[in-house]
Amino acid sequence: MKILALSGSTREESFNSRLLDIAVAGARSAGAEVTVVDLKNYDLPLFNQDFEYHEGAPEAVIQLKDLMIEHQGLLIASPEYNGFPSPLLKNALDWVSRQQNDHEPPMFAYKGKIAAVMAASPGAGGGSRGLTVLRILLQNLGVMALPGQITLGRASQAFREDGRLHDDQLQRAAESLGADLYDVLLQQSTKLD
Ligand code: FNR
Repeated sequence: MKILALSGSTREESFNSRLLDIAVAGARSAGAEVTVVDLKNYDLPLFNQDFEYHEGAPEAVIQLKDLMIEHQGLLIASPEYNGFPSPLLKNALDWVSRQQNDHEPPMFAYKGKIAAVMAASPGAGGGSRGLTVLRILLQNLGVMALPGQITLGRASQAFREDGRLHDDQLQRAAESLGADLYDVLLQQSTKLD
């Protein structure tokens, strides 16, 4: 059971990427194999259907889609931009949702995936509005999202130098979210056996 971890921000000091790291550590402590994807390393153009009509999906899309197919869990932390998940994340999820050929079932890369979602923001709301929308998007992709989530408000003051959160309870909750995702994936795989 492998987990793909995605941050919706490529900002150098991204709060969401730092929050994601905590949940990733929690999942790894529970035994999960986690691949952290930095979307900065994927040259994903803004989606334009002309790509599909003319030259096909760019290589970066194929690579990201292959990664998605290889993993069963999705751990996501995304900024909230005007109440929505970041366009960077939405664009990546849209690209991966596309069929590469007529034989491939729709949403193939997302089949059977289970996700856990998080958000961090310098504001008090912690990006919770963005997560509401992200949940709808995941549902439309056929991905089941765990009911639990982490929202980290006042993120500019929330992290210690070592990357942990000042708030121990929140630190444990973020670690647990990663571990819980792994547990659910294990339970799911046992049921399918
Ligand atoms: C924001 N930000 C923001 N914050 C928030 O809590 N609610 C919001 O609706 C918005 N909207 C918004 C729109 C746009 C266009 C930008 C650029 C920013 C602030 C945002 O949370 C902040 O920049 C975070 O630091 C972004 O996350 P990372 O990069 O730190 O992970």
